[in-house]
Amino acid sequence: MASQIAVIGAGPCGLAQLDAFEEARRGGAEIPEITCFEQQSDWGGLWNYTWRTGLDEHGDPVHGSMYRYLWSNGPKECLEFADYTFDEHFGQPIPSFPPREVLYDYITGRAKKNDVRRFIQFNTAVRWISYDEQAGKFAVTVQTRDDGRTRTEQFDKVIVATGHFSTPNMPSFEGFDRFPGRIMHSHDFRDAQEFTGQRLLVIGSSYSAEDIALQTKKYGAQSVTVSYRTQPMGFPWPAGIDEVPLLSKVDGSTAHFADGTTRDVDAIVLCTGYQHSFRFISDELRLRTANVLYPGNLYKGVFWLGQPDLMYLGMQDQYYTFSMFDTQAWYARDYVLGRISLPSPEEMAADIARWRDRLAECAGPFDEIDFQAAYVADLHKEVDYPSYDLDLTRAHFKEWEHDKTASITGYRDKSFSSPCTGTIAPVHHTPWWTELDDSMATFLGNQT
Ligand SMILES: Cc1cc2nc3c(=O)[nH]c(=O)nc-3n(C[C@H](O)[C@H](O)[C@H](O)COP(=O)(O)OP(=O)(O)OC[C@H]3O[C@@H](n4cnc5c(N)ncnc54)[C@H](O)[C@@H]3O)c2cc1C
Ligand SMILES: NC(=O)c1ccc[n+]([C@@H]2O[C@H](COP(=O)([O-])OP(=O)(O)OC[C@H]3O[C@@H](n4cnc5c(N)ncnc54)[C@H](OP(=O)(O)O)[C@@H]3O)[C@@H](O)[C@H]2O)c1
Repeated sequence: MASQIAVIGAGPCGLAQLDAFEEARRGGAEIPEITCFEQQSDWGGLWNYTWRTGLDEHGDPVHGSMYRYLWSNGPKECLEFADYTFDEHFGQPIPSFPPREVLYDYITGRAKKNDVRRFIQFNTAVRWISYDEQAGKFAVTVQTRDDGRTRTEQFDKVIVATGHFSTPNMPSFEGFDRFPGRIMHSHDFRDAQEFTGQRLLVIGSSYSAEDIALQTKKYGAQSVTVSYRTQPMGFPWPAGIDEVPLLSKVDGSTAHFADGTTRDVDAIVLCTGYQHSFRFISDELRLRTANVLYPGNLYKGVFWLGQPDLMYLGMQDQYYTFSMFDTQAWYARDYVLGRISLPSPEEMAADIARWRDRLAECAGPFDEIDFQAAYVADLHKEVDYPSYDLDLTRAHFKEWEHDKTASITGYRDKSFSSPCTGTIAPVHHTPWWTELDDSMATFLGNQT
């Protein structure tokens, strides 16, 4: 009997896994029986935008953390699928920083081309995974959300692709219980126009804080104060945005900061990151990690050390996204197909330790980019994922870091070249800072 493989989640990672198997099947390989469980009613993961916040229509926490008007925060050339380029999908060169709808179209375009929908059971949430030593199989309990029924099935291997930017890390500060305005996490941020005319306090100093500060100002917030815990982002902010040390308390609507300064604010957005949360996985199989570039206990960043038939995709903090997910998915596929064998647990543990030691040496974003590029290269050299110019993407990321430092409102107007086709992206017809329309039709029309 063919072995049974469960893939959990049909976001970019889960779809990459299905695409990888489909590619092998086209190449003549006999592939196992694959079932992908997706709790939402459609594919795309975070890129499948929802207006909902809080609980969804079935009473489960909403997975989506993306907002209206979200544009790619890195050059698309650094995430391009080497087996399905932007040129192939759009039939024309497109600018380097697309809005969400355009990237959603691209991700799902490859999935449609490969016809992988047939593997997916939608509206089906995985509620529990455990390993049955005697049977040598995983027991996976799923719930079909339309009728609430549960059932348990056995699988030889399980690939977890459920993302890690959906369960908010939600600290509290003194005085929050008496603050008269809205307090929310970036997970629940949807429409920047909600804050038009308001004085906003943003807490955090990473990508969500940066982008939500810019978004809200772009769509008419009166002022945005960004409060950092460790260090300020230090970008040349446009008028109306500035950075202050950590919030110490709020007193009514007055925010007090660690340097003794105060500001009156109308609303607070906690951009304080996310928890890796896998409540559906039994204790001994559950990944516990902060948002880092090399989580512990995952050999090659993928295989669960104590039981490598359990694989996790995309659990790293991410400079590289889709192209890294692809390389992981190709590697996981080749393990499942018996093309790659894994070393002893001791050797796996030593390899993880070497990568984590190397990570500890990283002194900032430039080192981190090199680190993650080296990780991707390490996987890539063992699989038949199409080759592309990884060094070019490394150079692109570094140029992007410089561009952000030069102009935080202007970096999305830059153009990069494709590591797959060499195509040079056209410059978008309208500067990002003044472009209020993020629709695909407007984005793709009238490039200069
Ligand atoms: C606000 C925000 C903006 C971002 N912007 C960018 C960007 O501009 N560029 C970029 O490259 N990356 C961006 N990212 C990074 C993002 O992590 C990746 O682009 C990508 O979505 C990760 O894919 P994934 O498949 O790992 O996870 P997800 O996209 O989160 O998909 C996981 C899927 O698993 C499903 N699932 C979860 N639990 C279960 C369960 N128990 N049972 C069944 N199904 C389940 C979910 O419904 C979902 O469909 C952003 C992230 C956030 C939070
Ligand atoms: N396309 C886009 O424009 C876009 C927009 C938003 C997000 N994203 C993506 O979403 C992902 C998540 O980004 P993120 O910014 O949400 O999370 P993140 O990168 O994990 O950053 C979390 C931030 O929260 C801060 N923090 C945590 N606990 C805190 C506390 N108790 N008090 C004060 N500050 C605290 C951290 O500060 P310290 O530095 O002190 O630890 C850090 O600045 C990234 O992959 C990013 O690329 C993309």
